[in-house]
Formats: sequence, C-alpha cells, structure tokens
Amino acid sequence: MTSDAFLAAEDVSKRFVLPVLWSERVAARFTRRGWIAPVRVVHAVESVSLFIRRGEVLGLVGESGCGKSTLGRVLTGILPASSGQVLLEGKPIMNAAGRKIDRRIQMVFQNPYASLNPRNRVGRAIAEGPLAHGLTTPAGAAAYVGGWLTRVGLDASCADRYPHEFSGGQRQRIAIARALAMQPEVLICDEPVASLDVSIQAQIINLFLQLRRELSLTMLFISHDLGVVRHLCDRVAVMYLGRIVESSPTASLYEAPQHPYTRALLASVPKLRLDQEAASFRPIAGELPSPLAPPSGCAFHARCALVQPICLSDVPPLRPIAEGREAACHVVTAGDARTIPQPPGPGKPRETPFTDKKIDFDRDSE
Ligand SMILES: Nc1ncnc2c1ncn2[C@@H]1O[C@H](COP(=O)(O)OP(=O)(O)OP(=O)(O)O)[C@@H](O)[C@H]1O
Ligand code: SF4
Ligand SMILES: [Mg+2]
Repeated sequence: MTSDAFLAAEDVSKRFVLPVLWSERVAARFTRRGWIAPVRVVHAVESVSLFIRRGEVLGLVGESGCGKSTLGRVLTGILPASSGQVLLEGKPIMNAAGRKIDRRIQMVFQNPYASLNPRNRVGRAIAEGPLAHGLTTPAGAAAYVGGWLTRVGLDASCADRYPHEFSGGQRQRIAIARALAMQPEVLICDEPVASLDVSIQAQIINLFLQLRRELSLTMLFISHDLGVVRHLCDRVAVMYLGRIVESSPTASLYEAPQHPYTRALLASVPKLRLDQEAASFRPIAGELPSPLAPPSGCAFHARCALVQPICLSDVPPLRPIAEGREAACHVVTAGDARTIPQPPGPGKPRETPFTDKKIDFDRDSE
C-alpha cells in the first residue's frame, strides 16, 4: 500500500450467506434427526487490498460475476465489509455499527432508470441527499439542483420532470448530477455507460473526463469495456473470482499484460478487421468457477495454460513485479518484469475527448 493512498481497501472480504431453501427446510424436518441444511456462502470479494491516489482514475475489470459491483458497493459504504476495512484519507468510512459516516464517496450505477425512483421528480431525487446532509437549504434547493443539472449538460428546468420523460443518456446525466450534488471527492462508477448506445456512451465518458478535470475527482471506473478503460483510466486492477490478480498503470497493462488471466482477458476482446470476413474472437477457455465453492490454490488454475503443482494448493499473493505493477501468480515473478514497459507519470487527467465517431475494437495488445 502506497503512502499517498486517498481511498484504500485493506484486506477487504465480502461474503453473502444465502438463505436456507424451502425444500431444504422440508428435507431437514423429515430426514433423520440431526441433519442440518448446509450453509451456503458466496465468496464475492476475498482479501482485496487496493488503493486510489487523489485525482486518479482506477479501472476495475474482470468477467461477469467476479465481484466488481460488490467491491464497488463496499468501497462506497453501501455494503459493510465482512472483514477488512475501507479508509478515506486514512480514516474508516464506516462506524463500529457498520454505518457509513463519510459522504465524500458516491456511486453511479449501471442502470440509471432503476436507480431513480420513477415517482420522484428529478429535482426531488437530486435534492434529497444534500438536504439531509446540510449541503443546501429548502429555500436554496431549487437553485442548488439547477446548478448541478447545468453542470452535467441538462437544463435546470429538468428538475420539474419525472425520470421516464428522459432518454437513457439524459437519465445517466441525472444520476451523475445526483451523485455530484453530494459534493463527493470519490466517485465509484459501476458500468455507467453499459446500458447506453455507443454514441451516447462517448458523450457520457467525455462528461466524466470533463468533470474529473473541473472537480478534481478521484474515481473507480468499473467496466467490461476494455477500450473505454484504456482511454479513461490511469491504472487498472484486474479481478478474478473475488480477488485482484493484477494491477498496473494502464499503458503497461495493455502493452505487456503479465498475469495469465489478464492476457486471456485482453486476447478475448473482439477484433473487427476490414480485411477479414468475420470478426475474430478468442474467448477465455472454461467458465468462472462458482463463488459458492472457490477452487483451492489459484482460482484460475483450471483454465490456466501455465498451471504448476503449487497452483492447485497455494493461493498466490499479490506481489510487486515491476515499478507500480503487481500480480498474483506463482509463475509471473519480478524477474519477468525486465520486459515490462515502465509506467508513465501518475494520474494526469486526459485532455483529449473520447471519440464519439467510432469505437476502435482493435486496441488490445495482441
Ligand atoms: N446480495 C447478494 N446475495 C447473494 N449473492 C450475491 C449478492 N450480490 C452479489 N452476489 C454474488 O456475488 C458474486 C459477485 O457478484 P457481482 O455483482 O459483484 O459481480 P460483477 O463482477 O459485478 O458481475 P457483473 O459484471 O455481471 O456485473 C456473484 O456470484 C453474485 O451472484
Ligand atoms: S498461479 Fe498458476 S494457475 Fe494461477 S495464473 Fe499463475 S500459473 Fe496460472
Ligand atoms: Mg456488476
């Protein structure tokens, strides 16, 4: 953990205990005495330690179901960690009772329609939090809300309308305005453009770039889109079955991915080439194991071409492999890092807008 960490997760785990099924209750009642229905635990996030520097954008990538949203919710304080803690400027964001005590971290969700109450006018949805935290007064709420709507590219008059009156892109702008109205210093964005069409995605990403510059925001950007992450993020953390398996400055990760899972993930990005009849796909072999019963040792061992005997028994720790780079693999060691390009300077906001004309799918390292 670096000393200049602004937001940090320290050995954070999050497990969900699933309720006993009705059929299991019946079975427990009628089978022999002493039989107890098994407790099923989802290991959604396991021993994650990561940090984000002030003003930095950290990307979080990984297959569906690997625990990205759960980690995002724990980092925001929406979910309490099962163990470990989240620190903002070195102080826990939760109190002893598991309640969030720091409003400086806010979240933007994937589906803006689901995250906005359809019965509330937009102005009310945005003003609720700031009023509760004393960031505005009832008399000043309209002007306060109008200011944030304008900031995200909407007209202040939108406050009087309902969420269903807006397009998907506009709704996501409203959701961003609602998060920003809490005057956060850290924004956790969980697939914020995934539900939008490509041209609208570009507009929202440009909005994030603009807001980041203007408000000096620190961001965690969760996304499936490795192209967007490459453009937007300073560093990237790669997650596999609840654990971070590699973290690196963005340029180095895309130029020379080290962990076998990162390599497979980047190689699986669809490549569209005009000189080929069909798009080329190299999906990762096998499936993500169940977080209900994580494999022993390295969770990637059943899908890894480099697997060694030790991988079946020992969980590889996340350790430094080059300056600013870490990987959790028994095979990838610091010696390999001689070939890794050195990272560029930390956390410089990008000036160039994300193109809204074309999405280049041929941007990975392979
Ligand atoms: N409230 C919950 N109760 C039980 N299991 C849960 C809960 N929330 C998440 N999970 C499980 O935790 C695991 C991680 O889920 P999570 O939503 O964090 O993954 P994800 O990486 O965000 O996936 P996606 O990319 O599809 O959004 C999944 O197996 C999921 O089913
Ligand atoms: S620890 Fe072993 S199984 Fe896991 S990624 Fe490295 S080589 Fe593959
Ligand atoms: Mg998710």
